[in-house]
Amino acid sequence: MAATDLERFSNEEKRNLSLGGHVGFDSLPDQLVSKSVTQGFSFNILCVGETGIGKSTLMNTLFNTTFETEEASHYESAVRLRPRTYDLQESNVHLKLTIVDAVGFGDQINKDESYRPIVEYIDTQFENYLQEELKIRRSLFNYHDTRIHVCLYFITPTGHSLKSLDLVTMKKLDSKVNIIPIIAKADTISKSELHKFKIKIMSELVSNGVQIYQFPTDDEAVAEINSVMNAHLPFAVVGSTEEVKVGNKLVRARQYPWGVVQVENESHCDFVKLREMLIRVNMEDLREQTHTRHYELYRRCKLEEMGFKDTDPDSQPFSLQETYETKRKEFLGELQRKEEEMRQMFVNKVKETEAELKEKERELHEKFEHLKRIHQEEKRKVEEKRKELEDEMNAFNRRKVAVETLQSQSLQATSQQALKKDKDKKKQSSYLSLLHIN
Ligand code: GTP
Ligand code: MG
Repeated sequence: MAATDLERFSNEEKRNLSLGGHVGFDSLPDQLVSKSVTQGFSFNILCVGETGIGKSTLMNTLFNTTFETEEASHYESAVRLRPRTYDLQESNVHLKLTIVDAVGFGDQINKDESYRPIVEYIDTQFENYLQEELKIRRSLFNYHDTRIHVCLYFITPTGHSLKSLDLVTMKKLDSKVNIIPIIAKADTISKSELHKFKIKIMSELVSNGVQIYQFPTDDEAVAEINSVMNAHLPFAVVGSTEEVKVGNKLVRARQYPWGVVQVENESHCDFVKLREMLIRVNMEDLREQTHTRHYELYRRCKLEEMGFKDTDPDSQPFSLQETYETKRKEFLGELQRKEEEMRQMFVNKVKETEAELKEKERELHEKFEHLKRIHQEEKRKVEEKRKELEDEMNAFNRRKVAVETLQSQSLQATSQQALKKDKDKKKQSSYLSLLHIN
């Protein structure tokens, strides 16, 4: 549709027509109800409060059943979120109820980070929903929505004031979830102290800027009861699954030596008010607020973080398509830049390696030359030595020959002398014999 057509269309006056007879679109609300009932509902409650404050008992009392009775230990090293889902049915309405316990809350010596796992859990559920929404093939129709619809914040009935852990945690959670503060184990605090405690808590929440869930007053049908109930916050509750006989009726109560605290007696505690507000009157508003306020905020921040926006810098409408194109261009540019950077880095690296290799080659060459020189020097020395030895050997040989010649000559001379002596002896003896004969 062209812009001018659009303008004409929006400027055109809406016409109210009266129908000539029954058409049937007045059945739309019934169709809606029937569809919702068939589909079923999901409701997710987060219970935050210190170990043993009465979270499980209150849940059991609220839904008039027994969920888990498991006790948490006081030795958790950090807060841990434990979700448990139950399928409930009342008349023909199916409710998928998830109760998430912040196990170990308030048990650590250093409580600075106690809120973090809770915030992370809530964000993770938002993120899962957002991822489902952003899928090409979405199946939100049968998606199990785990986003937290309400956080029941259990305040310890000290009668003094809120602990800093309570204030910090509620402050961190108030933009992410509908918080309903409740004073737990309200039977342990006297009536006048409870009244003062409630006022103190509310003033502390206001002075610290903690936004708690306000029961809506814009729907005429519930405006009155909701505004009355807003003034009763925080609800002081008592939980019990024990049944005690009061008069001739069995009621859920806590029995003490001095009397009975009836859970559903409005003059004893605010349990009925809480059940009325949480389940019977405002369950749908809590679900709606979660979707339209808290999830919307998460989604907006997340998409903005990803670079999506509705208007350009001149505050002109900016479509998702345009954002996508701009982002794509930015991304491609960035990719190209990175590619070029990497190519350059690679070239530089190759150059560096080449230079290094050359340097190594040169060093090796030098080493080789050096070794060659040493080797030649050694060879020359050995050659000289060999020559010297040869000369020595020759001289020795010459001397040896001379000695041998001398030896043989002297031997000859000696043998001649001996021969001569022998001859002389023989001559002498023959002379003597001649003499003798004569
Ligand atoms: P963990 O899950 O272990 O953190 O405990 P929890 O917060 O679920 O508390 P749980 O409901 O197990 O209750 C702990 C103890 O407190 C039990 O002995 C309950 O009977 C008792 N209790 C629960 N609700 C109330 C209450 O309203 N008043 C009093 N006086 N005691 C309560
Ligand atoms: Mg419990």
